[in-house]
Amino acid sequence: MVNTVNDPYHPYNTSSWQLLDEYAVQARKTHIRDYFLADESRAQKYSVEVGGLFLDYSKNLISDDIRAALLNLAQQSPLRQRIDAMFTGEPINTSENRAVLHTALRSSQAGPESASALKRRDQVQVAFDKLALFVERVRSGEWRSLTGDRFTDIINIGIGGSDLGPRMVCRAMEEYASNELKVHFIANVDGADINCLLKQLNPANTLVIISSKTFTTQETMMNARVALDWLGTSLGIDSPFACNHVLAVTANTEQATKLGVSEERIFEFWDWVGGRYSLWSSIGLSIALTIGAEGFSELLEGARLMDEHFRSAPFASNMPVILGLVGLWYHNFLGSETHAIIPYCERLSLLPSFLQQLDMESNGKRVTLDGQSVSYTTGPIIWGQTGTNGQHAFFQLLHQGTHLVPLDLIGLVRDRLSTAEQHRALIGNMLGQSAALLAGDGDPVEHPEQFYPGNRPSNTILLDELSPTSLGALIALYEHKVFVQGALWNINSFDQWGVELGKRLANSLLEGSTEGKETLDPSSQALITRVWPQETTLP
Ligand code: F6P
Repeated sequence: MVNTVNDPYHPYNTSSWQLLDEYAVQARKTHIRDYFLADESRAQKYSVEVGGLFLDYSKNLISDDIRAALLNLAQQSPLRQRIDAMFTGEPINTSENRAVLHTALRSSQAGPESASALKRRDQVQVAFDKLALFVERVRSGEWRSLTGDRFTDIINIGIGGSDLGPRMVCRAMEEYASNELKVHFIANVDGADINCLLKQLNPANTLVIISSKTFTTQETMMNARVALDWLGTSLGIDSPFACNHVLAVTANTEQATKLGVSEERIFEFWDWVGGRYSLWSSIGLSIALTIGAEGFSELLEGARLMDEHFRSAPFASNMPVILGLVGLWYHNFLGSETHAIIPYCERLSLLPSFLQQLDMESNGKRVTLDGQSVSYTTGPIIWGQTGTNGQHAFFQLLHQGTHLVPLDLIGLVRDRLSTAEQHRALIGNMLGQSAALLAGDGDPVEHPEQFYPGNRPSNTILLDELSPTSLGALIALYEHKVFVQGALWNINSFDQWGVELGKRLANSLLEGSTEGKETLDPSSQALITRVWPQETTLP
């Protein structure tokens, strides 16, 4: 059974939550070092491996008792039912009455399935085959531009989930990328971005993908118009929406058709794929063009491995469950408000931004599924950047500041793009940092400024290598971690009403309604007058 209005689950009412509250008092007086001293096998006991990923979570302020209580909390929560409900397509996004089925995009499930699941499987297969065929046509040079040229550049125009996932994956998959097709991403409505890009490109070789689930997002449609005007003017065409250079990826095929995109060039996905979970759908077209349809399949396969693990492994050895519980421990019981993601791999430099949307748009919620205000903190602030760069920027605060910031350090065991010496230096830094953050150093009395208290927690996630499969598994790991925390907090991780109010106000300003202006606060009114002094009505 899924949590509904009638479901009385509230995490703080469980016996485990209360026990964890008590354990937290003790944990605040403990040093992680002590746990290692007390148990030689801790590093082995606090690790788990799946799908080319290895998680060491031993460097956390978590004793065996705390771990047991956290696992018990998961058992006392509706997590198990929620997992089943998600995979079987129940409408767990209750505020929008939608199923949440990004996992169906990477499923190879055979066996007994409902009629709707079978229908969905067919839809997914048809969409994937269409995408794969198209990708092959572009990559082989069969799909030509209006001037008869091969396409050499692709612009993906989209924002949020229609940008961050594909952008992050394309950057991460540089090793697997085509040399003949270069992908560019435009998200912000800041004209400087698209105008500068277009100056560098040749319209005769450029393919424009308009990626938008709704096909109405202001930023995306505005950028699309700029790109299409550029194509139209340079290539001398009246209706650029209707030419070979323009593709639409959307769940609103009607709107794309209305604008003139022909069916052949529309790549569909569905309302049961959330924007921030959509890179596995046709939104991954730019990924497939970059690494080939086979590479895209391998990405899906990596995620599928993690899905199967998440669905079937006992909580005690379930990687997303563990990651979710460890985070929850710090946020709800030890008062940490943020969580930093530090990949020791420059190709994963966009992972923190991607995870910001995934986590904060999903779990930045203040009411439970039954509409009550929460009385505990929910989604953490996600931030971070690559090591070693971060070491020379904000690690000072991590080592000696006053905030408790749990970290995920992510590194590769093997890397073909670095020399052995370079890779050793990079991973040596990662291991050195996590060891130093844990152990600390120095004498607080003799040299207080050079004293490092240590006791700073971190998870280490090792990928055997950065391949489409391991990346797929890594992304799915975080998707499910977010799911676990949402289930424990009893919130809806799949809507995003918080984004709507700002959008509405911006739109009403852009519509030029002075009426809108008068209802705004004095600060906003004064700022509007300063930015647009000549206007009696708004632009
Ligand atoms: O920012 C809110 C949001 O709705 C995201 O959830 C979504 O990924 C993004 O806007 C883009 O929406 P669309 O794909 O419909 O253009």
